[in-house]
Amino acid sequence: MLTGAGVSAESGLATFRGPDGLWEGRDPMELATPKAFDRDPETVWRFYAARRAAAAAALPNPGHRALVLLEEALEDRFLLVTQNVDGLHERAGNRRLVRLHGSLWRLRCTACGEEREDLDLETLPLCECGGRRRPGVVWFGEALPTKAVEHATAAANEADVVLVAGTSSMVYPAAGLPEIARRAGAHTVEINPERTDLSDRVHERIAGPSGTVLPALLDAAGLGAAR
Ligand code: OAD
Repeated sequence: MLTGAGVSAESGLATFRGPDGLWEGRDPMELATPKAFDRDPETVWRFYAARRAAAAAALPNPGHRALVLLEEALEDRFLLVTQNVDGLHERAGNRRLVRLHGSLWRLRCTACGEEREDLDLETLPLCECGGRRRPGVVWFGEALPTKAVEHATAAANEADVVLVAGTSSMVYPAAGLPEIARRAGAHTVEINPERTDLSDRVHERIAGPSGTVLPALLDAAGLGAAR
């Protein structure tokens, strides 16, 4: 299972490339960069504080809950690979989860690299080593966490079925995972109300919001109502 920002759209969170994606009139993609943080850490920090506040106020939706039922049914044959940093999959109850783009709820020191998640997130904090802490997310131009990519790639190579929900499939390497799975023999399915770059390269496309389509798939598979 691969997810992107669209899976949280029905929880009220803006997607990256959707119509309501601007923050204080600015494009998030200009703020989510190491350069922006170097130049103006306070503004980038406020942007992430606003994203955390929105994520904290949001609730997992039926799409998230369906994926918990799927994990419960499939156990170690299930893996959720997500580009989302909002924590809603975790709050819904998914545990077999790979975060390709980090988490809003973790901080990392720019000097020593230490990661923490139990800190006061309201003010721009300094690490004990004197370095500045930054949001524990992957920014534009940065490499993804190696272990997460390896885990996701191995799963793509082994999967029988890959569902791809709520992603524009424009950002690599995440967008390349369905292709890896397909070449290795998996059946690939895209769930998205809109067509994407991936649409012509999957075996099946289900046009609709994940909060409706995923529970319906679970129902059809006899795995119980997830609403
Ligand atoms: P995007 O904003 O690029 O794409 C969101 C996708 O969700 C679009 O294809 C929408 O059509 C779709 N969508 C909207 N509502 C939906 C719904 N209710 N159900 C299902 N799909 C819906 O978000 P991502 O693909 O996640 O990276 O973006 C990928 C990465 O780009 C993000 O993780 C972020 C950004 O740069 C980093 O921050 C590193």
